[in-house]
Amino acid sequence: MRLILHKLLLAFMHLCFCFSSSIHVDAAHDSLNPGDTFNSSSHQLYSKSRKYFLQFYSVGALDSIFTYLAIQSAYDNTIIWEGNREQSVDWSDAVLSLNFSGVLKIEYPSMKQPIILYSPPQPINNTVATLLDTGNFVLQHLHSNGTNTLLWQSFDYPTHTLIPTMKLGVNHKTGHRWLLFSQLTNVRATPGAFSLEWEPREQELVIRRRGKVCWKSGKLRNNRFENIPEEAQGVLKYSIVSNGDEDTFSFTSTNESHTRWWSLSDSGRLSYNYNERYVARADLCYGYNNTDGGCQRWQDIPKCRIPGDVFTKKNLRNNYQNLTFDNNKNISYSDCEAACWSDCYCNGFAQNFDDGSGCRFYHWNSSKDYIVDGTVSGQDIFLLENKGNIIPHHHGTKRWIWISPVIATTLLILCASILCLAIKKRKQVIQEKKRKEMSLIEHFGNDLNKKNGLKVLDYTLVVAATNEFSSENKLGQGGFGPVYKGTLPTGEEVAIKRLARSSAQGIVEFKNELTLICELQHMNLVQLLGCCIHEEEKILIYEYMPNKSLDFYLFDCTRSKLLDWNKRFSIIQGIAQGLLYLHKYSRLKVIHRDLKASNILLDENMNPKISDFGMARMFTQQDSISNTNRVVGTYGYMSPEYAMEGVFSTKSDVYSLGVLLLEIVSGRKNTSFYDDDHPLNLVGHVWELWKDDKYFELVDPSLNEVFDHEEVQRCIHIGLLCVEHYANDRPTMSDIISILTSKGPIVSLPQKPAFYIQRYNYNENLSSLELCTGSTVEITSSTVEMTTST
Ligand SMILES: *[C@@H]1O[C@H](CO)[C@@H](O)[C@H](O)[C@H]1NC(C)=O
Ligand SMILES: *[C@@H]1O[C@H](CO)[C@@H](O)[C@H](O)[C@H]1NC(C)=O
Ligand SMILES: *[C@@H]1O[C@H](CO)[C@@H](O)[C@H](O)[C@H]1NC(C)=O
Ligand SMILES: *[C@@H]1O[C@H](CO)[C@@H](O)[C@H](O)[C@H]1NC(C)=O
Ligand SMILES: *[C@@H]1O[C@H](CO)[C@@H](O)[C@H](O)[C@H]1NC(C)=O
Ligand SMILES: *[C@@H]1O[C@H](CO)[C@@H](O)[C@H](O)[C@H]1NC(C)=O
Ligand SMILES: *[C@@H]1O[C@H](CO)[C@@H](O)[C@H](O)[C@H]1NC(C)=O
Ligand SMILES: *[C@@H]1O[C@H](CO)[C@@H](O)[C@H](O)[C@H]1NC(C)=O
Ligand SMILES: *[C@@H]1O[C@H](CO)[C@@H](O)[C@H](O)[C@H]1NC(C)=O
Repeated sequence: MRLILHKLLLAFMHLCFCFSSSIHVDAAHDSLNPGDTFNSSSHQLYSKSRKYFLQFYSVGALDSIFTYLAIQSAYDNTIIWEGNREQSVDWSDAVLSLNFSGVLKIEYPSMKQPIILYSPPQPINNTVATLLDTGNFVLQHLHSNGTNTLLWQSFDYPTHTLIPTMKLGVNHKTGHRWLLFSQLTNVRATPGAFSLEWEPREQELVIRRRGKVCWKSGKLRNNRFENIPEEAQGVLKYSIVSNGDEDTFSFTSTNESHTRWWSLSDSGRLSYNYNERYVARADLCYGYNNTDGGCQRWQDIPKCRIPGDVFTKKNLRNNYQNLTFDNNKNISYSDCEAACWSDCYCNGFAQNFDDGSGCRFYHWNSSKDYIVDGTVSGQDIFLLENKGNIIPHHHGTKRWIWISPVIATTLLILCASILCLAIKKRKQVIQEKKRKEMSLIEHFGNDLNKKNGLKVLDYTLVVAATNEFSSENKLGQGGFGPVYKGTLPTGEEVAIKRLARSSAQGIVEFKNELTLICELQHMNLVQLLGCCIHEEEKILIYEYMPNKSLDFYLFDCTRSKLLDWNKRFSIIQGIAQGLLYLHKYSRLKVIHRDLKASNILLDENMNPKISDFGMARMFTQQDSISNTNRVVGTYGYMSPEYAMEGVFSTKSDVYSLGVLLLEIVSGRKNTSFYDDDHPLNLVGHVWELWKDDKYFELVDPSLNEVFDHEEVQRCIHIGLLCVEHYANDRPTMSDIISILTSKGPIVSLPQKPAFYIQRYNYNENLSSLELCTGSTVEITSSTVEMTTST
């Protein structure tokens, strides 16, 4: 049995790296010799003690996928260097090579000119390119007497990240300068607006935005910079070299197990190690007189801006009024910010393209009533607000002692007033809610629009928006009808679902259901925007999700690499939160009944949103179990009591969540896992591995073994608890959330799961490629309807 499992697993891993049949560069190797090539199917080049690795790395989604030759930290995947910042390459075709002339270059078939990383003045025969344990990728000339000379090193071409022993500064002999440049956007590595430089004369670090100084670290004294928080420099030892040859700055860590690196983001934040910890916040520098935190004063602040005016991120429903565009793909966030800042009629901006480049400027007047602020749908818009003084204070300890009582008192007063405000606001909210409910009862059916922000669209408009329901616009087939992409006259993109004519529901029930769905507002649920009723035709209009659905990524060899463990874990948490809301916190208890990977849509930031409420059933919060003789759902995700007896409850959704969880961890469909002799599905397979304590073998090979073991174990454990045979044994969504977010041990142990043995037979002869792209088990991934006798 074990042997067969092992064989299966091996076969699967093999398939999942579709093209892994011959691994050219042995993973244990850290070097390229003349004549060697390295491409995306070679996986990685690891430094000797596997601290860093080099690979072709893809980022982005759909139309905006960018591929770079990247050096990453094996500790947490942080990208510390890219070899082709200016020009993205093709993931499947790009080749890095070192040839017999000593030329180190990246090429791919459709590219006319190779990207030359290094080319010696005269051809050199004996070279070697090595990824060192410092994270430096070096090209050396090997001499016959056994010594080497350095020809080229990645450390001489820093990108956005500074790691120990890497230099900033200038080489006086060659004139070469070492400086960091931020990325243009979070997916485009092209040098962006911000640079981090070493100023030898002042002995300080400086961040510039398009050449203009916005932040200074203050002079280096006693191995400390005044304007950098102590926690960010705690274990660092700075070294300054200043002589005729060079003027440079670098750092090392005094604690080897605590290596630090600094990374300059596209918005001007200099963070260390983890994204939310900062060395410097140049994004908070607006040029006012206040120089706290290292921000610098500018001369040219427009008269209409007053101290405290800052841009704050809001998630807003897009409003296309008084909007202007800048379609330049070479500019991004901070350029838009600067442009909006100096235009007195601009009070907000957003990114324009999927890759984060370009700008949209909002020219709104003081009244902002028409903007729907909320936790749902919307786009990130940066709105101008006055927040008083927001620059954090980072002073030496002496000043802190003096300042802290003052701050404490201020904070106390602030907290008290915030509390007062919150109570007042809450009262208002409750009153508002009551008022809303009253008017809902009064005016029901009169106008869905006013109460729920739900648009009732004209049929002709819907027809025009979808190009007469053309097949080009068709996004897919949902539970109860096809879904189309549509563009409203305002330019807003929406998903339009045309309910099948045969659906027996009447207009009254339809409106009723619409009102209910409208009330479901949660960031992890797809937002309904409007509807349209025309004769027999019932149409729902949803927000459009640019990144398609989870299955599009999860079950595809190439795209699954875009979902690293952190993303997967945050998707899991998002789905769980959405489901908890449906089960517990919405006005009515909602049982989704068709939770599966293809019903989890992803927004532009890959946040999950549960979609397709076509089969959802709603109950008052007291009722919980129901029975139906119409079983709808998807094989593989249906709980046993529901599939066999038609009994459904919140625990049926919990079952589906469990299956989904295991699919996210493993990157495989529940139903795709099969073997003629041992008809185990994924759930059964996981159980076997769990029993043998080998559950880590389950983890998706696309993760390249980079994941948090504790989190993975937690997810598998929860997954198994969710798929238990008896509904009562399965955890509730509240239990699941608390297990997911806590760090403590999980008390309950899973029992042998339901549907342990695959119940369906497939006669197809599956080829490896098909299995890998997930196109084979199509029959099981669509929603089915069947009648049971009860
Ligand atoms: C990538 O490397 C593999 C293994 O060496 C090789 O079979 C394949 O042809 C290479 N692909 C390209 C595009 O060079
Ligand atoms: C190495 O690559 C360079 C640049 O593409 C090319 O000019 C040179 O002829 C190549 N040398 C060999 C030995 O292939
Ligand atoms: C360069 O190296 C190759 C392979 O080792 C060898 O055949 C060739 O003779 C060398 N050429 C020179 C000029 O050293
Ligand atoms: C080794 O050879 C190189 C080039 O031939 C020369 O520059 C270097 O000085 C030599 N080193 C020693 C230790 O002989
Ligand atoms: C180094 O850092 C690790 C991890 O934070 C810590 O456990 C250890 O005590 C530190 N060692 C020293 C010498 O500070
Ligand atoms: C900022 O400082 C400059 C020079 O010290 C001064 O002229 C200006 O009035 C100050 N502005 C504000 C708003 O305090
Ligand atoms: C963007 O940058 C590229 C390369 O630097 C340049 O060729 C192009 O003209 C620029 N586009 C605009 C709109 O400035
Ligand atoms: C749009 O701008 C016009 C004049 O430029 C103004 O009258 C109108 O109020 C603005 N609309 C909004 C929604 O701010
Ligand atoms: C509204 O904004 C426009 C420019 O977009 C400006 O011309 C107009 O004076 C503003 N109106 C008010 C009432 O502020």
